[in-house]
Amino acid sequence: MDNPWWHRSVVYQIYPRSFADANGDGMGDLRGIIQRLDHLAGLGVDVIWLSPICRSPQDDNGYDISDYQDIDPAFGSLADFDELLAGVHERGMRLIMDLVVNHSSDEHAWFAESRSGKDSPKRDWYWWRPARPGMEPGTPGAEPNNWGSVFGGSAWEYDPATGEYYLHIFSRKQPDLNWENPEVREAVYAMMNWWLDRGVDGFRMDVIDHISKDTSLPDGVVRPGSLYAEGGPHYMNGPRNHEFLHEMHERVFAGRATLLTVAEMPGVTIEEAARYTDPARREVDMVFGFEHVWVDRGPDPWVLYPLRLTKLKGILGRWQAGLADVGWNSLYWNNHDQPRVVSRYGDDSPEFRVRSAKMLGAVLHLHRGTPYIYQGEEIGMTNAPFASIADFRDIEALGHYAQAVEHEGHSSEDVLTVLRARGRDNARTPMQWDDSHQAGFTTGTPWLAVNPNHKEINAAAAVEDPDSVYHFYRRLIALRHDDPVVVYGDFTMLLPDDERLYAFTRRHGDTELLVVGNFSGERARADIPGAEAWSSAELVLTNAPARTGLDLEPWQVVIYRRRA
Ligand code: NOJ
Repeated sequence: MDNPWWHRSVVYQIYPRSFADANGDGMGDLRGIIQRLDHLAGLGVDVIWLSPICRSPQDDNGYDISDYQDIDPAFGSLADFDELLAGVHERGMRLIMDLVVNHSSDEHAWFAESRSGKDSPKRDWYWWRPARPGMEPGTPGAEPNNWGSVFGGSAWEYDPATGEYYLHIFSRKQPDLNWENPEVREAVYAMMNWWLDRGVDGFRMDVIDHISKDTSLPDGVVRPGSLYAEGGPHYMNGPRNHEFLHEMHERVFAGRATLLTVAEMPGVTIEEAARYTDPARREVDMVFGFEHVWVDRGPDPWVLYPLRLTKLKGILGRWQAGLADVGWNSLYWNNHDQPRVVSRYGDDSPEFRVRSAKMLGAVLHLHRGTPYIYQGEEIGMTNAPFASIADFRDIEALGHYAQAVEHEGHSSEDVLTVLRARGRDNARTPMQWDDSHQAGFTTGTPWLAVNPNHKEINAAAAVEDPDSVYHFYRRLIALRHDDPVVVYGDFTMLLPDDERLYAFTRRHGDTELLVVGNFSGERARADIPGAEAWSSAELVLTNAPARTGLDLEPWQVVIYRRRA
């Protein structure tokens, strides 16, 4: 079988709410995206992943869908969507949708019907349970089990109308669908087929390793100092997850032209990822793992850990090795749930922002797998200067703040320090198009404040400047398109114990690449085995002015190529 097109592709994620606002209401929309398609075509990306645009009360910015087959009026209409899709295809790109089917909105007609009574035909479409035996329903501690919600508080919401609770791993407005029920699965597959028939090219599947739960819903372990248990072990990568995804493949993907399916899986291990992405098993094409973005997290979410490069290399190196023979990696630093990488693993000071953003891009894009660029990453956008909790909009930030400060006794300043560094709103500040008022994002008042640094950091300036992060990313994408070693080369990690340098080779046929990135603000020398062999190699790309061999400037990256 031919290699699928997505092996050679680069994906660009759009968070529509924050991308471009055409109608001046302060929220991005589909017409705004249509107007900016040439920015993406110019960058050279192959695929656009749209975060959710379906009808939604927007409790979790669209990850709470109340109608899977309509567009939220805040984003536009189905006619706008068709025009957007045509515009993407005309430019030779593809478009994948966000598929949010672990849960729906509580305002979805399915849930309204399920909630209407214990004998509703859709009662079993969600997870309804009575109070804990011997407890008065609706009183503290009477929840069916002790799981906490990802956004703070209990994972159960009491519904006085029927005297039972429903499960919501995320907000109370995101009730979990019961995938054990075949009618639920058939309804989801029908909806997916409807989108594919409309012309979309695949799906990014939201928390799709949560769909098979341990149906006994047992209590979990409560971490000291926490009010609720971590239910993850009982609802992530559960007993029927592979079966459900295989069934989805049979019902939806089989027999169609090659699509792209990406499974977001917070709880996935490498071994499981290899199974999920083994083409012979016909489940999904690639998974989004989380290990490498949790490298600076400990058991206590309110403690910040600095990046340890050896740990990061250990994780990414293991993923490269683990999926070398079977399966495929997705490669990302950023998305709408992660802080900006240049502020996190790089240096966002005026002196090193551009250089470190390029270094991070090069290291990521030269791994084996499909790279993802999150809007604004290609111009080196940074974290935002949030002054107080009033500046945040994210349900997760607000929920954690309330739980930590009001119920768990943490100081407001400590919690804010963590939210400033890790909060999801860092990624969600509006796209910085130019240096004008509101960064060219909107003519109105943006739903989340624009980062004041848009005066210097913006797309217009980046496109003008041949030395910008934007043009560097453009070259990285072109390199992937032009040189099979980037797509197919074997990966070998070098210098695993070095805390400053990230070094590896890629080899395909007789072509070998060497990539060395300096993750520090100091000069560093790469003492790699066989260094002499590289002294006359072609310098394919670097982010520093001069050729420096293997002596790297602060935050420098070098990519060398030679015939082996
Ligand atoms: C993962 C999404 O990326 C995140 O933004 C969302 O809050 C949760 N899933 C719940 O849908």
